[in-house]
Order: sequence, then C-alpha cells, then structure tokens
Amino acid sequence: MCGIVGYVGNQEVVPVIIEGLRRLEYRGYDSAGIAVVNRDHEMQIRRASGKLRNLEDAIRKAPIQGDYGLGHTRWATHGRPTEENAHPHRDGSGRIVVVHNGIIENYLELKRELQARGHKFQSETDTEVVAHLIQKHKELDPGADLETAFRRALSEVRGIYALAALSADEPHKVVAARLGPPIVIGLGEGEYFVASDIPAILPYTRELFFLGDQEVAVLTPDGVRVTNLQGQEVKPHIQRVNWDPIQAEKGGFKHFMLKEIFEQPRAVRDTTQNRVSLDTGHVYLDEVNIPAAYFRSFSDIKIAACGTAWHAALVAKYLIEELARVPVEVDYASEFRYRNPILTPSTLMMVISQSGETADTLAALREAKEKACRSIAICNVQGAMMTREADGTIYTHAGPEIGVASTKAFTSQMVAAYLFALYLAQERKTLSEDQLQWHVRHLSELPVKLEKLLNDSKTDYDELSKHFVLSSDFLYLGRGINFPIALEGALKLKEISYIHAEGYAAGEMKHGPNALIDSRLPVVVINTLDPDDEKSRLRYEKTISNIQEVKARDGIVVAIVTEGDQDTRDAASFTIEVPSSSELLSPVLSVIPLQLLAYHVAVRRGCDVDQPRNLAKSVTVE
Ligand code: AGP
Repeated sequence: MCGIVGYVGNQEVVPVIIEGLRRLEYRGYDSAGIAVVNRDHEMQIRRASGKLRNLEDAIRKAPIQGDYGLGHTRWATHGRPTEENAHPHRDGSGRIVVVHNGIIENYLELKRELQARGHKFQSETDTEVVAHLIQKHKELDPGADLETAFRRALSEVRGIYALAALSADEPHKVVAARLGPPIVIGLGEGEYFVASDIPAILPYTRELFFLGDQEVAVLTPDGVRVTNLQGQEVKPHIQRVNWDPIQAEKGGFKHFMLKEIFEQPRAVRDTTQNRVSLDTGHVYLDEVNIPAAYFRSFSDIKIAACGTAWHAALVAKYLIEELARVPVEVDYASEFRYRNPILTPSTLMMVISQSGETADTLAALREAKEKACRSIAICNVQGAMMTREADGTIYTHAGPEIGVASTKAFTSQMVAAYLFALYLAQERKTLSEDQLQWHVRHLSELPVKLEKLLNDSKTDYDELSKHFVLSSDFLYLGRGINFPIALEGALKLKEISYIHAEGYAAGEMKHGPNALIDSRLPVVVINTLDPDDEKSRLRYEKTISNIQEVKARDGIVVAIVTEGDQDTRDAASFTIEVPSSSELLSPVLSVIPLQLLAYHVAVRRGCDVDQPRNLAKSVTVE
C-alpha cells in the first residue's frame, strides 16, 4: 500500500522519480520522500508529510539533483504520517537508504539488537531497521558489497516486503527484493526502473517483469541481474505490456474515477471480445490453460476476494449456479484464510482481484493450493502475483485502474464471471446451443447499452447529489443478483464521500432495518425488471412494496429502474433509468448510477475522490 520508485540510468533522476511517484500516489499518500546521489557521491534526501505536492515544494525550496535514486509515497502502517517517518530511511552513516512497502514483523526485536550495538534511530518505523541492518553487515564484513549486505540483512527479517536500497558509496546501483507486495522492474535503453506498479514505468518502457517472491534484483546501467535469496541466478519472465501511458492518465476528466467510469463500455468490450462467437454462441477460454475435461468434472467452487471484488464474487455465484448448476461458496478472503475451509481436490478455487496482489486474497489462494485444489484467478494486471500462482487466469481487460474506488474493474470482473459461467455451461451441457447463443448475443450488446447509459442519461447527477450532501447515513437495497450491487453501491459511497452507507437484501427490511426509516434517511433501491423472466417480475413486485413501505414512513427513495418503468417511478422520490437487459446482465448496468451518485456526492462534499482518506488502491499488507 505504498509506492516505490527507483532509477538507474542517464536521465536526471529527480523528475523521473517524482513523475513515477505521481503515478503511484494512489497507492498511498500520507507522506513522500526521495533520495538521490550526485556525481560527488553526496546523498541528498527530501521528505514531506502529506501529498506528493508537499515533497515537490520541498525540492523547489532546496533543489537536489543526481543520476540514480529512490522515491516513496507512504500509506502509514508503523509510525504516524510525519516527515520523520517518511521514507527513504537512512542507516547511521547516512550513506545507505531504503524504501519499503510491507511490514517487518520482527522489527522491534531487531531494533533492540541494533541499539545494543550503538545504532541510533530517527523514526518510529519498521523500515529504518533494514537500513541499519545493511550497515551492520557492511561493518561486519567491509569487503561485502551492497547486494551482499542487503541479502544478509534480509535473512534476519521476518514479514513481507517490497524493498529497494542504494548506497552513496556504490554509484549507479539499486538493489531490490520482494516477499509479498509487488515489485515491477522496467527495462529501458541503458536505464532501469524499479516500481510498485506498472504506471510508474509506462512513460519510459513497456518491457518489464514482476520480481518473484524471495528474489533479489540488482540494477546498474549495464542491466538487471536477478537471483534468489541464496544468490542463484533467476531468469525473469519479461513481458511487453500493452497499456499506453495515455491510458494511465486522466484524459481530460477531473478525476481518474470519473474517467474510469466512462471507460466501462470499452473495458467490457475488451473483456468480451475474442472470447465468444456470435454465430455459434461458443465461448473460448483456452487462455485459462486448464484442460476442458477438468471443467466438466470438478464438484464445486469456492471464491475468495475482498471489497468490491467480493461483490463481483457474489454476482459470480448467481451466474455460475444459474447457468452451470455448480455449487458456489463465496467468502471474504480475510475470513477464508483463517477458517480452515473444507476443500477437496475436486473443489475449484477462484480468486477475484483487480490488482492480483491483495495480501488476503493471495493467502486464500495459497491456502487452497496447499489442499490440492485447482485454482483460477480473475485479474486485471498482467503478470501479477495471483496470475502466476493460480493454475489459470481469466484477465479482465479494463486497463490500468488508478482511482482507489474500483469501477471499470468491477464491471469487467462481472463480465469475466459471466463468460466463465457460460463456458462451464457449455462444457457441462447445462445450456443448449440456442441458449448459449442467446446469452452471448445479450452479452455482446452490453457495451452499447453502457454507452447509452453513460452518455444519454436524463439524470443530472450533480443536481441529484445536492439533496444528499449533508446526509449522514444511506441504505441501499437490492434483490437477487442485484443484492450484491446494493452492497457495492454502499461501498462506493462510503469509501469516497465518507458517508456511512449500508447495503441490504430488500427482503430483509422487515427483519430490522425498517426501524431506520425516517425523513432523513435516503434509501437507494435497485428495481430493474426483465419482463421475460418470471423471477425478475416477482422480485420487482416485492421491491415496489419495499419502496412503498419506506415512503409510508417519510423515507426518501432513489430508485434504479429499467427504462419506461412508470410504476416504480410513481412510488419513488427520485428515479434513475437504465437500459433494459436480461436479469443476469442487469448488475453491469444497475451499478453505473450508483458509481455516479457516489462520485457526485463525494465531489460536492469536497472529498478527495481518487485518493480517499485512510485507503490505498492495493491492500498488499494484512
Ligand atoms: C473498492 O472500491 C476498493 N478499492 C477495495 O474494496 C478493493 O476492491 C479491494 O481492496 C480488493 O482489491 P483487489 O481487487 O485489487 O484485490
């Protein structure tokens, strides 16, 4: 949940690192810092609490320059978000610096041992211990180079880390190591990059690789050498990413989140294309490289995920059980990994993750693999850890998602789950060819419907948000496959506007939540209708009753309805229309108004939409 950037090469290093940190600021923004070494081998460090712009101010006031260096944006774990606790952290000599993403679990014990050796510490952080450990090993063995001392320091550390270090006494060299949180190594022309995520590298190169767990990389102008902790050479899996730098920029939108909301038609189109045949209704998921015979035979599915991805998992349950008739159990990854789950070799483990690096979800995957389950990931980042550890991956093609609040990744995850459910139905013959063709055709119509919903909506969200700027609580209601969308709508609002919001199954209102209803409580109700689906009709009628119950108690109802629905419109206070669709695809449409409502309320409340307080984009620590 921090951003690391390192550079070795022939450019002036400060702007390269600052630009990289700016592209990683969504990973953490409690403080920022930079360390560079100039031609006179002088270490120059600037740090600042708060946003990256505070660090840029500090550099403007006291300029520095150099040709290799490290930078860091912090999401505080140990130690308050102050300048003293900002990375990079130095050793006692001030000649070695370290940046870190992760948690050194035994740092207090190590700190005491180092203090007993006379080391003096400046911060409350766990990271500073690593800089002093490197110094200790260089003092114990003056002939040891930075890489050797770094490796020996790592052998004493327990915890998870993405670490990078450099020394003013070993010019043009950056060392990095990973155990848990991601590290990407960028391969330029005579210049090399280490970063926590791809966007920091994109302006300079698309040739990159993810460092593996317990691997060490040494970057010099001559190239990058990768070894394992024992020093044995490792051949990295170099890839060329197809994201362009523009995609990772705001493209004229006020916030990344708004840009990404409007990118959803493309994201859904890209996630679907080349995976279905409109003529035959056939679904192709050969990329998953698990034999089709396995998909015909396994017994059940367990899905583990976090946050928004967990909501996508709940939708996946509805889809897979309805279309492929395979039992699905969904769990928060943080619960799954500590629950001693019942898994058999015929259980398929699925993880869903935008980043592919979420610590809890990664741990759930590893737990299942230990119990000999086959595993499959739905992930948005090429080469992320989960895609390398799962047996197969269905990539969403949403492109880089920078806003902390997940939007286009979420709709793409639901589409990927739909494709997977259809693929299972195809292999297990629970759907006829005609039925498959019907589903594939509806799926292929989604992008156009999303374009219409986003660009031709009659709803003025800025105007609508005025009514809710001072609200302190929200309730979101949904039924069936739209119950997870009620949960997602509540999460969107709370994580960017800081308004308490709760998602609930509409049918549960009379079992308690009705007590909450009064004239100050906005209730957002998803009540789409697929007229050709009897169950949809039943849910629809029950939900109109919910709306009437809320209104009878002076509650405020914002209803999400299928275009042309007059009955719900008559019952609600405010109505937002979405294009008609099949029941099973309705979540991909019904979530859009909830994303936009949350966005506009948050903007009106002056919240930092792309970098909400206390959060980070990728939760790579527990
Ligand atoms: C959603 O808007 C949040 N950013 C958060 O809940 C996120 O979905 C969760 O941390 C999971 O992240 P992942 O998809 O990268 O695993």
